[in-house]
Amino acid sequence: MSYKVGVFVGSLASDSINRKLAKALVKLAPPELELVDIPIGGLPLYSRDYDADYPPEGRAFKDAVAAVDALLFVTPEYNRSIPGVLKNAIDWGSRPWGTNSFAKKPSAVTGTSPGNVSTAVAQQHLRSILSFVNSPELANPEAYIHFTEGLIDDDGNVTDASSEEFLRNWLKEFHLFVAKVVGAQQITV
Ligand SMILES: Cc1cc2nc3c(=O)[nH]c(=O)nc-3n(C[C@H](O)[C@H](O)[C@H](O)COP(=O)(O)O)c2cc1C
Repeated sequence: MSYKVGVFVGSLASDSINRKLAKALVKLAPPELELVDIPIGGLPLYSRDYDADYPPEGRAFKDAVAAVDALLFVTPEYNRSIPGVLKNAIDWGSRPWGTNSFAKKPSAVTGTSPGNVSTAVAQQHLRSILSFVNSPELANPEAYIHFTEGLIDDDGNVTDASSEEFLRNWLKEFHLFVAKVVGAQQITV
């Protein structure tokens, strides 16, 4: 059984280190996980004025989330939280009221920073948001990636063997978690 996983990168920077991390995860994922990028940069700033008639960008985003089994967030930390562009995308997906796209979709969060706490605070904020939108989250292992120069190249190759092994194992754990959550949801009582 394989699962489609939507990847959300919380950075729009052309040389984003989180985009590099996302590329690495695509390469290191087990065959049971198909990672597909879900772009967030083209979404307008969310307003509830849109709820009556979502624009094409909002509809396309919600369709893309509906088409995946699970969610993988790869985010920078901005001022000890997640970047606005990622929060904006989550707000789009969570509305209009009653049509929350994230509900019951299993998720995992990671991110990289050159800073010493390596996105830990942003990830905690993101976990709080994901709880509210009712996404079951991989609690453990956590994945705080301290970025050092050259750790991941532009093609997503991880240059440090122990980091590569860590990410590979983390994705294996995510696969097991997704299989458990999706399997449990198929039980009828
Ligand atoms: C507005 C802004 C706020 C930032 N705040 C933090 C922070 O709170 N913690 C941190 O570790 N790094 C912070 N940084 C540095 C980022 O970790 C660094 O720019 C990183 O490269 C961003 O990820 P990206 O390359 O994927 O865009 C901040 C950078 C910017 C532009």
